[in-house]
Amino acid sequence: MPNPDENLLLEMKGITKRFPGTLALNEVQLEVRRGEIHALMGENGAGKSTLVKIVAGLFRADSGKMWFDGKLVNFANPEEALHAGVSMIYQELNPVLHMTIAENIFLHREPTTLGQLFIDKKAMNAEAEVILRKYGLRLDPRTKMVNLTIAQMQMVEIIKAVTFNARLVIMDEPTSSLDADETENLFKTIAELKAKGISIIYISHRIEEISRICDRVTVFRDGHYIGTRTVDEIDRNMLIKMMVGRELSDIYNKKAAKIGDVALKVNHLTRKGVFKDISFEVRAGEILGFAGLVGAGRSEIMKAIFGLDPIDSGEIVWHGKPVRIKCSSDAISNGLVMVTEDRKKYGLVLCRSLFENVGLPNLKRYSRGSLVDFKSLNDKITEIARRLSIKAPSLKVEAMSLSGGNQQKVILAKWLLEKPGLIILDEPTRGIDVGAKSEIYKLMSEFAAEGMAILLVSSEMEEIIGMSDRVVVVHDGQITGEFQREDLLDGYKAQELILSKAMGE
Ligand SMILES: Nc1ncnc2c1ncn2[C@@H]1O[C@H](COP(=O)(O)OP(=O)(O)OP(=O)(O)O)[C@@H](O)[C@H]1O
Ligand SMILES: [Mg+2]
Repeated sequence: MPNPDENLLLEMKGITKRFPGTLALNEVQLEVRRGEIHALMGENGAGKSTLVKIVAGLFRADSGKMWFDGKLVNFANPEEALHAGVSMIYQELNPVLHMTIAENIFLHREPTTLGQLFIDKKAMNAEAEVILRKYGLRLDPRTKMVNLTIAQMQMVEIIKAVTFNARLVIMDEPTSSLDADETENLFKTIAELKAKGISIIYISHRIEEISRICDRVTVFRDGHYIGTRTVDEIDRNMLIKMMVGRELSDIYNKKAAKIGDVALKVNHLTRKGVFKDISFEVRAGEILGFAGLVGAGRSEIMKAIFGLDPIDSGEIVWHGKPVRIKCSSDAISNGLVMVTEDRKKYGLVLCRSLFENVGLPNLKRYSRGSLVDFKSLNDKITEIARRLSIKAPSLKVEAMSLSGGNQQKVILAKWLLEKPGLIILDEPTRGIDVGAKSEIYKLMSEFAAEGMAILLVSSEMEEIIGMSDRVVVVHDGQITGEFQREDLLDGYKAQELILSKAMGE
């Protein structure tokens, strides 16, 4: 069956994909025009990643048809997709991390045999160097991928796609770990790809990005196709309504909480070369925001407080008493918990079930001697999973099988199951859809109202301004400013004030 529409590079119809216990895609469709930047949006678990993995040959659809460049195709593996002209930009969980840049760029291409690959290494490195230069990347092609920043990794993957003559480039949440400058850079590159006539499928939870760089947007909800619109004909509220299925009036529902006694006080905390002379306090019921540019040292400060990184000097005082926190279990036994930004490394045991990931760290509280009260634990986990609207067929499924955003929610569930005295949230809503975001903000507000102290690190300025009672700004490892809630009421002005402090002005 030929594809009648000349303008389309990719057409998918009636695509269905089932996983054990989950209908991930239910007869969905997608049309991508030549030279178009097409956004794919939807809540966590809507099926976005599953669909693009089918396009890239990582998954096969159970049923449905796919045309690429007018031809009916059914890619059996990523190589087949690559050779047809489909490239996917990976960032995490990437099998090529331990290859060098050059090896990665030339992966799946001539020289075809392994023997030749070794012989041609020198030539390959030389050629890779030329290519990198052409794109303004001053990197040694012999550097291992794992040693690059996420932004550099993406650039290498994009270069790889372009030199491979990709016709369609897929980006699944490419900006979620980039700072503002890196994001701008990526957008520039995307514009260049588009100018070359390359089509792009762009997945992101950030609505501002969609309206800025995309031509059209397709929305999925719960494995169903909801619709496709041009970016010009749709506004933020309409888009949210398509995704969530209802209107969301106020995403940041910060309630005024009763601010209590000082919970945590940090005096002159220093880690040489990383941060210096950090002093602040946070009170019970208070949400203290930490603003700053990526790399300013905010996560490092938090890791030190939580005992993941050592400190050289300084003091941590918890409810009036100096405490020594040498490892995270010291922190936890004091009632301090932390949700890290790096969820793959610290957050989840991917091969364990949702129940185990949430339950095991909390097991002690549900045990009498060697007896565990599984019934209560199960009820509690079910309840928190419902409050966070975690989308999973049951509590028994492996964390690995959950969508990105739902994995993030499982980490939150683990720490919120038993209310801690203080919680450090480092980028808590990265990769989380708008509906669940507003749910998490509501929970933060509720927990604060119940007397929890919260340290919030976020690169989303709106989030910091919307949720914090007070904001501390970090620049280059030092605190350069502090703002009260009253200073933050005019959101636009607040952003400017914070930004100038964040840049060290
Ligand atoms: N390998 C897998 N095994 C089992 N279930 C899976 C697997 N991959 C995805 N799923 C399920 O399919 C559904 C769709 O997941 P998908 O990753 O496509 O969502 P998504 O739209 O990309 O969400 P997010 O915004 O959170 O990344 C989810 O319910 C998820 O749990
Ligand atoms: Mg996804």
